[in-house]
Amino acid sequence: MNDQNLKDIPKMHLHISAKCKEIGFSMPSDLYIGSLLKSLITSKPNSNLLELGTGIGLSLSWMIDGMDSHSRLITIDNDKKLIDISKGFFGDDKRVTIICADGEEWISKYDGDKFDLIFADAWPGKYSLINETLDLVKKGGFYIIDDMAPQPDWPEGHSEKVAELIEYLENRDDFNLTKLNWSTGVIVATRK
Ligand SMILES: C[S@@+](CC[C@H](N)C(=O)[O-])C[C@H]1O[C@@H](n2cnc3c(N)ncnc32)[C@H](O)[C@@H]1O
Repeated sequence: MNDQNLKDIPKMHLHISAKCKEIGFSMPSDLYIGSLLKSLITSKPNSNLLELGTGIGLSLSWMIDGMDSHSRLITIDNDKKLIDISKGFFGDDKRVTIICADGEEWISKYDGDKFDLIFADAWPGKYSLINETLDLVKKGGFYIIDDMAPQPDWPEGHSEKVAELIEYLENRDDFNLTKLNWSTGVIVATRK
């Protein structure tokens, strides 16, 4: 499938992509995970959403596009430069809270409402504090991760980390799991 097959790319995405090239951001989420997030979020009106790993805001633009006016979203990254860029794009949207923090610290301290969807796109919430993060998913809510399919540029030892994570998720009997050959390899886990 090529990019032309995706018809509903968020308007802001073009501007964020330009910024991404300008600063040489090397970890952008692709269009396909964005499209999936948007569709899943549209299924959850009045929702509470979390993104771990704001990056430059590419996936965030899709998530926001899927939200209704009553939904709210928190997104977190520990890179102040990236957070400032995302605030430049989305800082005026009252539904969205953009936080510069270490993900592990933030997850450990968070005691607010649970989430209808968590997109875990940073080390914390995926390779660390996975249990604590899954605890934050509401019944019927989604936990989404990408970058699960082997890539030639993975550092040594990473494929073992990925295999461990998949095995851990497969052994959780409180989630239903679907592994998708989509984007960079996606897992959709839904809390029973
Ligand atoms: C794969 S990128 C996210 C890409 C983003 N979803 C996008 O579409 O632009 C991972 C992000 O996690 C952030 N990150 C890495 N370690 C982190 C930590 N300990 N706490 C919070 N964010 C972290 C990085 O700064 C990076 O922006």
